Amino acid sequence: MRLDFYLSHVTELARKAAKIAAAKGRVTVNGEVVKKANYMVQQSDQICLDAELLAWPSEGYYLVNKPAGYVCANQDPEHPIVLDLLPAHLGQQLNIVGRLDKDTTGLLLLTTDGQWLHRITSPRHVCDKRYRVHLADPILDEAIQQLEVGVLLNGEDQLTKPAKVERLASNEIYLTIQEGKYHQVKRMLAAVGNRVEALHRDQIGPLQLGEGISAGEYRALTSDEVAYF
Ligand code: URA
Repeated sequence: MRLDFYLSHVTELARKAAKIAAAKGRVTVNGEVVKKANYMVQQSDQICLDAELLAWPSEGYYLVNKPAGYVCANQDPEHPIVLDLLPAHLGQQLNIVGRLDKDTTGLLLLTTDGQWLHRITSPRHVCDKRYRVHLADPILDEAIQQLEVGVLLNGEDQLTKPAKVERLASNEIYLTIQEGKYHQVKRMLAAVGNRVEALHRDQIGPLQLGEGISAGEYRALTSDEVAYF
């Protein structure tokens, strides 16, 4: 695979930063400095960044800052898909960890590791997901209390699990939920008589999107981040 793809896979460097690191002479392959980002590396190569030997990737774990307009699907005839945000050879191997709607932005995880994916998405595992929610109307105290207790979604027969709500402005909240039902946040707010105007996920478990990744960018997770789940 290309050197810059490899580096973005096994280090914290995003692809652009990986290209710069190589151009600056920080990367060696089998003892030789390699400055070209399109140099093809293979598993038998000894690849070092700043003289530190790097491993060949096994499972892949990535986060993406999903922009609006992208769909969480493996293919779509009309819209761009989130996997298009990564190099093709990576995107083809990855599974999407819990889907976001086309108009929802923010933190999305992708992995090759099925068990890890299951730990984040399975209802049997507790994993908080935090959303910043812009609402059409000011949110009332009673609505917040209802969300904190649990609401009945259209078409369901059980209340949602208690959510955490933090008011940020009259019509903006952080909503933290542990479930991931279809359109869950939009349906929860509809259940309390409001309407979601914009939705952004900024945290899954202890993993925050942070400021460093702009919309449309991706990066590999660190081993500590992978171990959160
Ligand atoms: N809830 C929604 O309604 N939409 C999303 O994209 C995520 C959670």
